Amino acid sequence: MSGLVDRFGRVHRDLRVSLTDKCSLRCTYCMPAEGVPWIPKQSVLTPDEIERIVRVAAAEGIETVRLTGGEPLISPNLVEIVRRIAAIEGPNGPVEVAMTTNGIRLPDFIPGLEEAGLARLNISIDTLDPDRFAELTRRDRLIDVLAGIEAARRSKLRPLKLNAVVMRGVNEDEVVDLVEFAIEHDAQMRFIEHMPLDIGHTWDREEMVPREEILAALGKRFRLEPLGGRGGAPAEVFGIDGGPFTVGVIASVSAPFCAACDRLRLTADGQLRNCLFAREELDLKGALRSGASDEGIRDILRAGVAAKRAGHGIDSPDFTQPDRGMNAIGG
Ligand code: 5AD
Ligand code: SF4
Repeated sequence: MSGLVDRFGRVHRDLRVSLTDKCSLRCTYCMPAEGVPWIPKQSVLTPDEIERIVRVAAAEGIETVRLTGGEPLISPNLVEIVRRIAAIEGPNGPVEVAMTTNGIRLPDFIPGLEEAGLARLNISIDTLDPDRFAELTRRDRLIDVLAGIEAARRSKLRPLKLNAVVMRGVNEDEVVDLVEFAIEHDAQMRFIEHMPLDIGHTWDREEMVPREEILAALGKRFRLEPLGGRGGAPAEVFGIDGGPFTVGVIASVSAPFCAACDRLRLTADGQLRNCLFAREELDLKGALRSGASDEGIRDILRAGVAAKRAGHGIDSPDFTQPDRGMNAIGG
């Protein structure tokens, strides 16, 4: 029944919506120190526009919407957007709303987000060391992120997931500590291979810590048991020491999961992307602002899906990084 099936039979159920390209941090793997030319305010989608796109997407089979950024907590409309999307009914029930955040200021927002209908949270935390954190994110705010994770632990938002990008010579020695930290916070730790998505184009394959190394480091301390049942999910999940806690590894580079991808992305300025690494975008904002009908919006969603490539092609000789950085694409 879904209209969003691509040439490879992949059914699209997950829409990532970036609410802003701005962020309270400046992670070196994402943005240059001075920031980037931000998307002009008048180009950022309004809550009405986001609601309209999600309503059409839900009728086409999108079941989960993940709010991202930049940093979604910076968007002045976040709570309202959560409320509106959580009220949308798709053919299989209400749309599930999740969010990926850096956690800063989260304690102030959790009650409002829960009440508005947010279901789940992913919080990024690459290191537990304040000096490393300051170096990596160029902001001395580990303490605020920890407060955010503690607030999430006390909340009803489950499952709670924590994300770390593993980087050689930066935080690769912390994987065991991060898993123990996640367990203390009733969360699943997930380790992400570093992908070529930074605006500064500093990525180097040799510097990437691959899945195998991450698993070897964890294997020295924990007994890991592959759990399977992954579906379209990017993370490969392992039980830890017989359970109940789990750890995930997202091997986007060394073991791509494109064949099961069910994701579409909407940038803060209303462009539809069918892949993190897409070279082309379709202009949903332009269509909306020139009076497109719901059918017109639906046709753009279908066209984006129809044009989706088999995979990201990071290993192909003609691979080129997307022009936008992760902050403008949305995790
Ligand atoms: N490679 C892998 N993950 C990245 N993220 C941001 N940039 C990259 C990259 N180059 C992660 C963030 C966050 C999520 C939104 O994406 O750390 O967890
Ligand atoms: Fe902000 Fe996420 Fe980019 Fe870090 S990776 S600067 S937290 S948007």
